[in-house]
Amino acid sequence: MTISLGEPMDALQTLLNDAPERIDRAMTIAELDALENDLVGRTSPIASARRMLGQIKDGAERGATGKRINDIATQIQAMIDARRSDVETAEESERLVNDAVDVTLPGRRPRRGTHHLIQSTIDEIVDIFVGLGYTVATGPEAETEFYNFTALNIPRTHPSRAESDTLYLDYGDEEDEILLRTHTSPMQARYMEQHDPPTYVVVPGRVFRADAIDATHSPVFSQLEGLAVDEGITLGDLKGTLASFAKQFFGSDTQVKFIPHYFPFTEPSAEMHAYTDGRWIELLGCGMVNPAVFEHVGYDPERYTGFAFGMGMERMAMVRHGIADLRTLLDADRRVLEQYR
Ligand code: PHE
Repeated sequence: MTISLGEPMDALQTLLNDAPERIDRAMTIAELDALENDLVGRTSPIASARRMLGQIKDGAERGATGKRINDIATQIQAMIDARRSDVETAEESERLVNDAVDVTLPGRRPRRGTHHLIQSTIDEIVDIFVGLGYTVATGPEAETEFYNFTALNIPRTHPSRAESDTLYLDYGDEEDEILLRTHTSPMQARYMEQHDPPTYVVVPGRVFRADAIDATHSPVFSQLEGLAVDEGITLGDLKGTLASFAKQFFGSDTQVKFIPHYFPFTEPSAEMHAYTDGRWIELLGCGMVNPAVFEHVGYDPERYTGFAFGMGMERMAMVRHGIADLRTLLDADRRVLEQYR
């Protein structure tokens, strides 16, 4: 049987001869699809040879040529199909390798948090007083004018009652006013109302003042109040207790001195200073409980005496660690805070 179409058929033979190598070089399904289009697609030499078949007038010759074209197309297609299943298998196993989960990898541990320096200072100081036999209480941050001022013998005209110092939440009449407590001292009165003497209690808590933030002030800070009431308590007990606290917190060679001061709720009153880093530094306010406060809470001032003190927690931390600027403690900068874990 004669095959005609001369040159186009030679081109098909070349196509067939080259096909195995070209097909083997296709490494992905996408490459293979493109190659399939080149080899057997609508613009391939096979398609154009088919279109030329009509030019062959002799029927037998046309049939033989057509059969030869189909034969070549079928062989090439078979090679493409075989390669396609190899490439699919290869791509699939590559995907499996890439997607594999290494179950032997150690997990990522969440970073362990710590208390902020202010909180750990509170905890440590509370512990010191618990060691001295004190109990711990807490009280409301939103306080009445009565407990914050009146019960503490602070007169109506006292400047700390002014709006320039105190943040008011609600202006009621006289003693119904609600404010953010300016110190933890209102808990002296609240605690004594609820508990009979002997009373040994410390009260940590947040307090608020109408101050702008600077190196030594913040509108929100923490205090720890202390109150000891019993029969026969003297100024000597106050000094011994606070000196013992200072030695435990700042170091056993810490010296303290007491300088006369004034607070309406203690009489006499003092500031305790401590000697650290070559200078005297004011640490806290203290004094013997004013009998006028005992009257307000129903303690017998003939029978009981006591002392009270209040100290700023941020200040304690700053003095102990040599921190010059309060804002260091308020910025949530972990590079700084992590030094005090
Ligand atoms: N409440 C006082 C203050 O905030 C401190 C203080 C407490 C003084 C108890 C004496 C007794 O400054």
